[in-house]
Amino acid sequence: MNKLRIGVLVSGRGSNLQAVIDNIEQGRLSAEVAVVISDQADAFALERARKHAIPAVPVSAQGFRGRREEYDSLLVQELRKYDVDLVILAGFMRVITGVLVHAFPNRIMNIHPALLPSFPGLHVQKAAIEHGVRFSGCTVHFVDEGMDTGPIIIQAVVPVLDGDSSDSLAARILKQEHKIFSRAIQLFAEGKLTVEGRRVVIAGGMAGTDDFLINP
Ligand code: GRF
Repeated sequence: MNKLRIGVLVSGRGSNLQAVIDNIEQGRLSAEVAVVISDQADAFALERARKHAIPAVPVSAQGFRGRREEYDSLLVQELRKYDVDLVILAGFMRVITGVLVHAFPNRIMNIHPALLPSFPGLHVQKAAIEHGVRFSGCTVHFVDEGMDTGPIIIQAVVPVLDGDSSDSLAARILKQEHKIFSRAIQLFAEGKLTVEGRRVVIAGGMAGTDDFLINP
């Protein structure tokens, strides 16, 4: 069977991209990164891709203000060029339009550093601390046309501790991001994910656990 070909969209440091690459190289994820595309030519994520001999393509968004659809059709063109089966948004700091969503229906995943539907958008670790929640975490979801609204695939939970800064909470969450993104991709690669309305059904279900978290 052909390996799932992933196209990764990034804007920054690319630690989630790195985790996916590492999981592939270590045999934990059966897929290949076909291309990494960035709206920022100087994104460190592009360097990470090059280091692993993965095509790294900057697609500048300059000059596309108010023409987001046109920009997204450039992305679609690039992704098609590399024959991508699944698109992942790994710290891609742009809101995407229907042009991209409809080109890859239920085939775009995003990782978000909060337990959606709480705290969508930006600066969410700070917002979680300020709100006083006892738990936060991260969410991998399929992307629809809303902001962080699509069907949820996997979530991981971490405690919010007394004395946490947004950086310390972000670091705790990021560790989990690096696990669950690959896990969601692997489930997709195995053909185990079906979207039914807002719900993602996982064939065979997931392993159960009695270890529920309580904080404090
Ligand atoms: C992560 O926190 C991710 O959840 C959010 O953007 C950040 C990207 O980090 N969407 P990195 O570039 O993968 O290190």
